[in-house]
Amino acid sequence: MEIFIDTAKLDEIKQAAAMGVLDGVTTNPTLLSRQELPFREALTEICKVVDGPVSAEVVATDAEGMIKEAQDLASIASNITVKIPSTKAGLVALKTLSEKGIMTNATLCFSPSQALLVAKAGASFVSPFVGRLDDISQAGMDLVGQIITIYVNYGFDTKVLVASIRNPMHVVDAALMGADVATVPFKVIGQLMKHPLTDVGLKKFLEDWEKVKK
Ligand code: G3P
Repeated sequence: MEIFIDTAKLDEIKQAAAMGVLDGVTTNPTLLSRQELPFREALTEICKVVDGPVSAEVVATDAEGMIKEAQDLASIASNITVKIPSTKAGLVALKTLSEKGIMTNATLCFSPSQALLVAKAGASFVSPFVGRLDDISQAGMDLVGQIITIYVNYGFDTKVLVASIRNPMHVVDAALMGADVATVPFKVIGQLMKHPLTDVGLKKFLEDWEKVKK
């Protein structure tokens, strides 16, 4: 499974890249609003650090506006993947952009029916938002399982990118289900490597070494 980082913060992206675990980045308007640089500059810098897909989202809500913005975003760097909302207008934009060879990520996906249609429209990725479903007492990971079943049934090429991840178990479950990608907040990347027995074992090894090292 590929690991993307869900942030627009350059320092977090650089740290994750240095760990050797980073395959791509996802941003959204909220994440870009939480960092200092103007959005084009921020995306340019991110694309210099990461070779893999870097998602950047349109803010237009009509198809024509989405396509225009998408082409502008795609001109920033060859690895920009344009996030298009999973709406009716979004389907038109996904189809047109896919025909133009622009990579797309159908975002804000909350149902298997949305996932089916965005795949038919040619989305490169679909982003089921698992944490936001959990927040309203619907099992987010169940949606991931449904999407994988549908895509396997019909051989869709659209990659399943598990988004709105809140904890390490979302990542582990995504991997067990065979999702293509998990986009993970920086804090959760750290949590994935944390184990109390690793810390206790390391402390004991270092204490024992101190006793004999002279
Ligand atoms: O980037 C999209 C998604 O991962 C947002 O997550 O935590 O705002 O629901 P969250």
